[in-house]
Order: sequence, then structure tokens, then C-alpha cells
Amino acid sequence: MNTLLKFITCGSVDDGKSTLIGHMLYDAKLLFADQEQALLLDSQMGSRGGAIDYSLLLDGLMAEREQGITIDVAYRYFTTEKRSFIVADTPGHEEYTRNMAVGASFAELAVILVDATHGVLTQTRRHTRICSMMGIRHFVFAVNKMDLIRYDETRFEKITADIRRMMAEYEFTSLKIFPVSATEGDNITKRSTQMLWYRGTSLLTYLENIRTEQEEENTGFLMPVQRVCRPDSTFRGFQGQIEAGLIKAGDMITTLPSGEKAVVSQILDAGKPVSSAGCGHAVTITLDREVDVSRGCVLVKDASLCVGSLFTVRLLWMDDAPLVAGKNYYLKLGTRLIPAVVLHINHKIDVNTGNEIPADTTFKNEIAECDISVSDKIVFDRFLNSQALGSLILIDRVTNMTSACGIVLKNIKRSDNLTWQKLEITREFRAQQKEQNPVTIWMTGLSGSGKSTVANALEKRLVSLGLHTMLLDGDNIRMGLNRNLGFKQADRIENIRRIAEVARLMNDAGLIVITAFISPYAQDRLSAREIIGKDSFFEIYVNTPLEECERRDVKGLYKKARSGDLADFTGVSSPYEAPDSPDAVIDTSELKLQECVDQILHALEARELLPARVASASQQAK
Ligand code: ADX
Repeated sequence: MNTLLKFITCGSVDDGKSTLIGHMLYDAKLLFADQEQALLLDSQMGSRGGAIDYSLLLDGLMAEREQGITIDVAYRYFTTEKRSFIVADTPGHEEYTRNMAVGASFAELAVILVDATHGVLTQTRRHTRICSMMGIRHFVFAVNKMDLIRYDETRFEKITADIRRMMAEYEFTSLKIFPVSATEGDNITKRSTQMLWYRGTSLLTYLENIRTEQEEENTGFLMPVQRVCRPDSTFRGFQGQIEAGLIKAGDMITTLPSGEKAVVSQILDAGKPVSSAGCGHAVTITLDREVDVSRGCVLVKDASLCVGSLFTVRLLWMDDAPLVAGKNYYLKLGTRLIPAVVLHINHKIDVNTGNEIPADTTFKNEIAECDISVSDKIVFDRFLNSQALGSLILIDRVTNMTSACGIVLKNIKRSDNLTWQKLEITREFRAQQKEQNPVTIWMTGLSGSGKSTVANALEKRLVSLGLHTMLLDGDNIRMGLNRNLGFKQADRIENIRRIAEVARLMNDAGLIVITAFISPYAQDRLSAREIIGKDSFFEIYVNTPLEECERRDVKGLYKKARSGDLADFTGVSSPYEAPDSPDAVIDTSELKLQECVDQILHALEARELLPARVASASQQAK
């Protein structure tokens, strides 16, 4: 039967990667098929009822490609009488780690080239580590340039031993090592006459015959729900691709995370009813009762998955901006997209040696192990158990770019022991008692822009209008609650997180909160907005020009920063990201203090955040 094998080749130009593939194609007079033909072929062989399945190319890091990032991976397509192949060809240099990860995420097997004249190199270790991390379980090593070492068996045996020693660290299903010469064609498509000591098959024969499908017997059924299909009130089907196991009509399944049980009424495969369906099929399943299931939920049978919001992951960092603990991202795992925070970087891993390195930041192309918390309970698994529910990407919430790809190492159970307690005196009750709308007026801007001054005047005005307020000011809070925090990015993230939590508690207490913090990072303000709730969050950009802030230099800090006596100073040696669409913008170099306050009150009125009695009084007070 003609099946498809998706593999990746790893090695640098000097290793003879292109020659190897070229020789394979030429020798075997393989048919070059164009992209569409290869896809068509696979679709016919495969499980998708003959329709072209372009997602074959978009497996793995699909979101990455959707986001239009240019990735330097060339896909080649060819067929032999026995099999069709798609090869991901990626540059092997260190700076292309990201491309290799993307290529590997699509492949079932890796062909890693080793130069026989050099043996196992640092880059061999790096390639192997990345392939393993991206889920490849079938490894082929092509020890190339055997002709240059006069087909020396002893030398080959030594390299073989090195490879096996290196592989001892990894989980894999198959491992095969070939002595080859890409230029001479030894053991590429036919057995070499130069190495009679080698008794195995040629590389191509091996690739034509290796079975990469997962053993099915003991795996339970699992299907992440991609879409709930509800064409009319009589039909409710759950659509998705079966990631493991088999499902039959009449089977009892469990829905996760809710844990409800239901019986499968009907299975539709390519629109036609079937009695059962297995791994790889995209199906629609209907159940015998109403269940609480939406996109991101998982239907399971005899499979034990984790349900939680805290886990340890291993990430390959792909963003130009470094990873900083505390930062907020979108996490995509299975069919779920959810806000997530990298709580803590446990350590980095040296891509070349595998050594653990203590770290509090991670740069592009580095691998790190981190603890991640997501904003709600999700269904996941260790990557070793499930590639589909154990691999993830992180997406930057401001730029929408893929920042990292990664795998789940373990579940952290900490939060399972906490239960949210419902309080009887509610936020609404407290707000009514104070006859006001408890909002947070969040001021952001450079040091010396006038945040504290405006915040003070605003608070005085609000109090004089009979409102109940609280002002949280950067310098003050940093002398108490946040005295353990400095001005590195991770500390600023934590500073803003705590302030947002405190502001929210005070809003819950019925108070109107005014905050005056530089809050220089857009993403942190986004997180604050989420913690506080978008309806209660009111953002004011104090847009006083840097030159004016520096001219005022009330605290003498600009001077210190310019002379190098103060590090990480916002606007000088640390960035400030201006808000895109604040509720109000004020420039204290152009407006008088009371005009600033008026402008903020107007903007509050426009969003109907002031009680009616106050709105009219605020006009009179002017
Ligand atoms: S934030 O960036 O984390 O939001 P925050 O508003 O709490 O900063 O604190 C800023 C105040 O700390 C400034 O007004 C200034 O008085 C003081 N400060 C001391 N060092 C720095 C620094 N390196 N960068 C910015 N502000 C600093």
C-alpha cells in the first residue's frame, strides 16, 4: 500500500544534505510530483475521503503560518512505487533553530546527517534535541562521506557508538544508522559494493518500509472539539479530528473539563454516518443528551487526561524580545486559545549539551523550562502521552506573533486545593451603598509627566462631589506592598499585577480607584485591564513629552539616569510603550491642572461611569 512519510532532513550544507536528497531522487528516477499532486495522493490514501487536505502542510505550528511569519523551510514532494514522501528541508545553522523546529513539528521522522570525517558534533546534538522536543520518535542518522574515510568500518562503529550514547537521553521508537556516501551513492538507494561489512538495507528502502503509525491497541479515544455544529435546533454535533483511539456509536464518552457523561448517538465521517471512526479522522459526533461542550473541550473514552490551570512546560523561545517571567501571552493547546502567564523560568537548557542553566530571562532560539498558569481550567496531557494535547504555542498578545512553541512536561496540582468562596455581600451591594460605579482610573505615563499631581487633583474633585475614592501611587506603593520590587521588566510586571489585583479588590469594596504608575508595557496594562475587568478599567495616557518631563526632573532622576547612576530608567534606558486607544489623553505641559481634571471627568461621563447626580454637579463645579 502506498502511504505517505513526512520527514525532515537536518544538517548543514557542508554535511551533504542536498546531495543526499538529490542523489536519492536521481538514482531511483523518482517522480517529482508537484505540491498539489502529492497532496491529492495523500488525500486519496489517507483518511479524508479523497478531498485535498491542505492542512497536511499546516499541521503543527499552523497558527505560526497563519500569522504570516516567513519561515525558511522548503518542502519537497516525491513518490516511489512504494511510498510518497514530503521532505522538510531546513537550514541547520544555529540561528535557524526556529525553522528547524517548525519543520520538525510537521515530520514523523528525522534524517540527521553526520559528517563521517568529523563524527558527532555539537550541531548534531542540537538537531537531535530539537527534533526530539518537537515530537519526532523515529530517528535516522546518515553517516555521510564514508568515501572520504575509505569506507572504514571501525570509524563507523565508533560514530555509531557515539550516536547511541547521545540517544540514550531521549525517548524514541526507532533508531537506524546508515553508513553512506551521498556523492558516490553508497547505501542511498541501493546497497554499497564498497562496504560489504554493512549488511543492512539502503536508506531509501528503509524509508519506504518504516512504519510510523502509532500503536493503537491500548490508547483510549480522545477528540479535541474544534467546532460545535448547530445548523438548526434539532441537530448539535461536535466536530474535530480524532487524535487517538477508536469511537463507536453507542460508546459512553466523558466530556472534559466538565466531566459529564453521554452516549454517542451518531458519527458522521465526511458527512456520511459510520458505525465507528479511528485516529486521524475528522468527524462529527452527536450525543444522546445535552452537555456543556464548546471549542477547546475534549471528548474522551478510556483516556486519562489532566484538567487544570498550572503546568510545567519546555519552551523553544522564538521571539526577538526575550521571555520574562510574569509576562502574559495567549496559549494555544489543542483547539483551545487562552490567556496565560509564564510564572517562573525554572532554568534554561543548553541546546547543545542539554545542561541546565539557571536563568531569569530566555532569548531567541534558547530552550527553557517554565511554569505556566492559564486563566481557566483546560484539558491537557504530558507530551509523552499525547502529542496533540501536550504541545503548545505562546502568542504575543500585543504583536500577535508566535513567541514560542513547547511541550507539557508535567501537571502542577497546586491550584486544585483552592475553591472560590461566594460572598454574600457583593460588589454590586457595596457599590449601591456608596451610590457610585466602582471603576479604576488607570494613569500611565513617564516619570515626571504629572500623573501623581493630576491623580491628586482628580481625587480631590471626586471626593468633593461626594464620591468614595482611593489613590494608589507608584512611589508610595513601592515603599510598602511592593518594597521588594525593582525596575527590571520582570519586577515591573509584578508591580503592575499586584496593583491591578489591589485595585480590583478596592473596586469590589465599592471604591473608585485612581492609580498613578508609569506602567510602561502595553501588555501589562492589558493584563491589568483583564484583572480589573474591561468595563471597570478606564485608561488615561498622561502624554507629557519626554523633554518636558526631563526639564522638570522633580526628583533629579533623569539627571542620574543620563549620567549612568540610575539603570533601567523609563524613557532613557528602559522603554515606554504608549497606549493605542486610551479613554483620555492629557498633556500637562499644555493644559492647566483643573483642565486636565475636567477632561478626565468628561471622558468618564462619556463612558457613563459617573452617577447622574455627579455628572450634572461636575459641570456646575467648573
Ligand atoms: S512602573 O514602571 O513599575 O510602573 P512605578 O510607577 O511603580 O514604575 O514607579 C515609578 C517611580 O519610581 C518613578 O516615578 C520614580 O520616582 C521611581 N523610580 C526609581 N527608579 C526608577 C527607574 N529606574 N525607572 C522608573 N522609575 C524609577
